[in-house]
Amino acid sequence: MDEKVAITTERNRLNYENKLILAPMVRISTLPMRLLAIDYGADIVYTEELIDWKLLRSFRRENDVLGTVDYIDKTDGTVTFRTCPRERDKVVLQIGTCDATRALKVGKMIEQDVAGIDLNMGCPKLFSLVGKMGAALLQEPETARNILKTLVDNLSIPVTCKIRVLPDLNKTLELCELLQSTGISAIAVHGRTVSERPQHANRNVVLKEISNRLSIPVIANGGSKEIQKYSDIFKFKEITGCSSVMLARAAEWNCSIFSKEGLLPMEDVIKSYLKYAVNCDNPPSNTKYCIQNILREQQESVLGRKFLNSQTLEQICNCWDLSDYYRLKKREFDEKGLLGRSQVSPMREDDKQDGEQLPNKRKIADEEDVVLMHCAFLRNNYVTDLQLPKTVLHKWSQTQRKKMPNYNTQQKGKLFRSIVTVDGRKYGSSFWEKNKKWAEQGAALVCLFSLGLINEKTFAANGNVPS
Ligand SMILES: Cc1cc2nc3c(=O)[nH]c(=O)nc-3n(C[C@H](O)[C@H](O)[C@H](O)COP(=O)(O)O)c2cc1C
Repeated sequence: MDEKVAITTERNRLNYENKLILAPMVRISTLPMRLLAIDYGADIVYTEELIDWKLLRSFRRENDVLGTVDYIDKTDGTVTFRTCPRERDKVVLQIGTCDATRALKVGKMIEQDVAGIDLNMGCPKLFSLVGKMGAALLQEPETARNILKTLVDNLSIPVTCKIRVLPDLNKTLELCELLQSTGISAIAVHGRTVSERPQHANRNVVLKEISNRLSIPVIANGGSKEIQKYSDIFKFKEITGCSSVMLARAAEWNCSIFSKEGLLPMEDVIKSYLKYAVNCDNPPSNTKYCIQNILREQQESVLGRKFLNSQTLEQICNCWDLSDYYRLKKREFDEKGLLGRSQVSPMREDDKQDGEQLPNKRKIADEEDVVLMHCAFLRNNYVTDLQLPKTVLHKWSQTQRKKMPNYNTQQKGKLFRSIVTVDGRKYGSSFWEKNKKWAEQGAALVCLFSLGLINEKTFAANGNVPS
């Protein structure tokens, strides 16, 4: 993470033979987990599936404080994809798409930052199927062929796809040959059909048939249930006759499965993961989700319950004696000026792009006499509902026998901002939020700060700068 974000054009082309691979997993295969997998021995790390239109509404920003490259969603300021130079020759970005033009736009946008691009053709979730993505492409081989060929012909990085097997062996082999004909560099195959669930046996025999038939590397996937230790990975590789092995759940549960030295205790894995989560400024909700999937039944322990009650990254770190580590890093990031969501005004980025007028702060303030500040509401900063700005403001109004706060929320596209009237005066935030509730919380926060009910330090801790 300390390496400088550098862009070079000369790079080694990714090779998919004899590789141990971290599988794409939604919410799991984010940057901290990918870096941890590389530390333990993974040769290639796939991202979680990222949907084409979400990437296309993001803009690229080099983050000098974290040493990362970030793709930031213009509509809400959240990070769609974060990567760093350490993984650049190993990371494969998986996209969810049903459209060759959009897929290529994504490919062009990210090819300088990743080692490869993968097309998801196996996701059985309704969301994917309705959008004609993921496993829907198994029924639309021509669409899949067109997407893959467009990417292969126009990108400088290798292209792969990840499929599930079809109920019929011959149809599966036919599909694989068609996909191979596009010039892709490898194909990952999950040995279950769309309707089969993880408890069903993986069709290892089908994987073997595919690897016998194709000339490109076949990556075996679906074996986690049988993989408890490092040597099991190679048994799976041998049974399936595939070139490489891709692990999802075995890595989700204990990422040190990639380590030649054998499995590490869960506590060591969690601590190493947490350090990466802190280094990457990973959202607490995502960090918590990943740790929950490592802890699994241990969530019932005393430590597990303490962990489940934690909300902020600092509280999570505290459960594993990493508070000092967290504070040091936090201070370092603050000193270097790490940008929060509040400094990435989504609407402003949008406005810059499409030439719309910026919301005119002075005009609103003058015309309506609003105390206006640029203030994002960061939900993770509040441990209990009682601490939420709206709740505090409501209580204050009650005890001071004032009229209850009255919120007036403006909507523009999918974004919201709000003005609250308290004691005859108006307060608002110029930050466009992605939902009405957060917009109201932002306005309440400005009001609390303006009335002196919270101090500058607390206000700044929310990532806000009085303006
Ligand atoms: C939490 C979770 C999220 C997943 N997300 C994705 C995804 O984003 N893209 C994808 O192609 N497969 C996804 N999968 C499927 C896995 O990549 C893999 O194909 C499946 O779990 C079988 O492999 P395994 O036996 O090693 O777990 C996901 C699986 C899990 C458990």
